[in-house]
Amino acid sequence: MFKIEYSLREQTGIVETEGGNTLFDELSTKGVIWPHGCLAGACGACRTEIIEGMDNLSPPSAIEADTIARIREGLSEEKKLVPLRMACRAKVRGNVKISPFSSK
Ligand code: FES
Repeated sequence: MFKIEYSLREQTGIVETEGGNTLFDELSTKGVIWPHGCLAGACGACRTEIIEGMDNLSPPSAIEADTIARIREGLSEEKKLVPLRMACRAKVRGNVKISPFSSK
């Protein structure tokens, strides 16, 4: 079993999973609705800071990588360093700790 430790607005929690699905799907099946839009890796609405466990996620697809690059273009130098993934595309392969990404 893997753990997804999350903070979302004032809510924090841990979802246990066998993995294999996207962060968004893993959370939503447990009733945690992550910010989202297209669910296809393109809009950036599900942008997520990976606080721990970046290596425990599937590699980004070309579409997701383009979206991440587009988001980073408008960020401060400090914010560009934040590990970032799209929750609708990144598949869980181990323990992770996440939070919605804020550019502020
Ligand atoms: S919901 Fe659009 S990129 Fe994830």
